[in-house]
Amino acid sequence: MFDHPDYDGHEKVLMAEDAETGLKTIIAIHSTALGAAAGGCRLWAYETGAQALSDALRLSRGMSYKNAMANLPMGGGKAVIWGPVLPENRTALMQAFGRAVDSLNGQYITAEDVGVSVADMEIVRSTTKYVGGLAGGNGKSGGDPSPFTARGVRVGIEAAVRAQMGRKELAGLKVAVQGLGHVGMYLCEELFDLGAQLVVADIDPARVSEAQRRFGAVGVSTDDILTQKVDIVAPCALGATVSEYAARYIQAQVVAGAANNQLATAEAGRILAERGILYAPDYVINAGGIIMVQAELSGDNDAAVVTARVDAIGPRLDAIFAKAKSENVITNEVADAMARDKLRAAKKVRATVAA
Ligand code: NAI
Repeated sequence: MFDHPDYDGHEKVLMAEDAETGLKTIIAIHSTALGAAAGGCRLWAYETGAQALSDALRLSRGMSYKNAMANLPMGGGKAVIWGPVLPENRTALMQAFGRAVDSLNGQYITAEDVGVSVADMEIVRSTTKYVGGLAGGNGKSGGDPSPFTARGVRVGIEAAVRAQMGRKELAGLKVAVQGLGHVGMYLCEELFDLGAQLVVADIDPARVSEAQRRFGAVGVSTDDILTQKVDIVAPCALGATVSEYAARYIQAQVVAGAANNQLATAEAGRILAERGILYAPDYVINAGGIIMVQAELSGDNDAAVVTARVDAIGPRLDAIFAKAKSENVITNEVADAMARDKLRAAKKVRATVAA
């Protein structure tokens, strides 16, 4: 573990198996310097356990950076469940997952991520209280974090368009949205309402049809979506889709989307920057969902207040873009340095208090 390429001083990694339900889960706690490690649970049919471990390690570090940059009083963690899960086992398996979360006594708080729904988290709640993303209502935010994530991404796209094109509005701009899942579809709705033209792709043709019907989107193949002749590319599928190859052929001026770990390698980020393409650091632009979950967990979840906090992603990105430009540094490196500074400062405070 300590030599693993994705190991980054993680505080704790729990691997748990429940033979009865077939649950195999890895919970990675990257940092609790700022508070309990919070981050969603991903259910995915990984080909190998090594892939599941890499994902947990990388995603949990991303959550530390994301929560720090969003100024949330939470550390970073992430859980992965190695799927697939048989439908008849799902309830018992989610209960077993809740027990694994509970065994960490609140050091890790879970919520939804890819492959996991609000209904799943309601089941997880039956075996642990350390869970967010539960049903909301009554003017309070809660439930599916995706609309908040999508709103934050839209606000972030607007910031990128201001910085890169000097434009205040999205009307008339073309956006390629890769992945029409929970976030991607809400993002299309936000962009369509503001007059953007959409080009979309998903491995599920039904989702493409829905976007065509609702937003007049143009559907293209999943192989070609990133290299469309558009103004903005919004990766909203899984991570690492912006490979070095893709970075060389992207025609857009802006890459700004919801997916975690969008850049396959650091080199892909450098290629984008060299080609003058502005990249919005993923864990800054996609923080809307976790901002909502934190508000829900703290009970401070008036919907208008949460929306205002999500909208603060815009000015946060303005500052990152401005710093990157004035210091001639790549945007994701600026964000990484800022996040690491925040974590270092929090660790120092914690050490001082402990002493
Ligand atoms: P989802 O599972 O609902 O949607 C993903 C979509 O991408 C699915 O429709 C899937 O068919 C499609 N897809 C998969 N591979 C594809 C490919 N190669 N080309 C085109 N489409 C492809 O997931 P969700 O919740 O919408 O999340 C999307 C991304 O945003 C993930 O990377 C997730 O980690 C990230 N994210 C999600 C948040 C949320 O609030 N749901 C919060 C922050 C980040």
